[in-house]
Amino acid sequence: MKGRLVLTWLLIVGVAAASVKSDYYSDSVPHEPKREKETHLHFFIHDIITGKNPTALKVAQANLTGIDTNPTGPTPFGSTFVVDDPLTTGPDPTSEVIGNAQGAYVSSSQGKDVVLVLYLDFGFTTGKFNGSSISVFSRNPITEPERELAVVGGRGKFRMARGFAKLKTYSVNPTLGNAVVEYHVTVLHY
Ligand SMILES: *[C@@H]1O[C@H](CO)[C@@H](O)[C@H](O)[C@H]1NC(C)=O
Ligand SMILES: *[C@@H]1O[C@H](CO)[C@@H](O)[C@H](O)[C@H]1NC(C)=O
Repeated sequence: MKGRLVLTWLLIVGVAAASVKSDYYSDSVPHEPKREKETHLHFFIHDIITGKNPTALKVAQANLTGIDTNPTGPTPFGSTFVVDDPLTTGPDPTSEVIGNAQGAYVSSSQGKDVVLVLYLDFGFTTGKFNGSSISVFSRNPITEPERELAVVGGRGKFRMARGFAKLKTYSVNPTLGNAVVEYHVTVLHY
């Protein structure tokens, strides 16, 4: 009986002590590196900014009246788009949809070139990586024939991802701004 009381008392004191210690961080311990896997992804993105069913919507634009800035095309400096672009296995929009890229891009160059800085999450909806996504954050000088974007993270099977994406414009309508872009992605992940 006495032993039980002592035990109860110890439990109460213990719980109280634990709730008093309220640091928002743990002790820092050495990180055990895990063996990473390497995966290659290949797909096409369809970015439609003009038309009946746009996949990218302009949500903000600067007042450029009286400002001598380039580009004057569909994505002038300062314009901001929110996107939900389909990803497909082939360049044809009717080929199999394997996911979507959601996020935003901002036209960020004051020069004569057209640069979109992308903040996109590429999520997959089929196959082994269904439910997983990779995070991409980079400038994209869209008029150059080949570009590279940084993969800075990921979710699900792509947890702790890092890597890069090589991009080539497959087709583009420079007036409307609609484009199909081929992606070759190399991802290291757990
Ligand atoms: C855009 O800028 C011009 C020149 O500064 C100004 O006259 C005009 O009122 C502005 N328009 C809007 C909608 O703010
Ligand atoms: C992908 O995962 C979702 C959620 O778990 C599931 O509902 C869906 O059927 C899956 N799709 C395919 C093609 O496996």
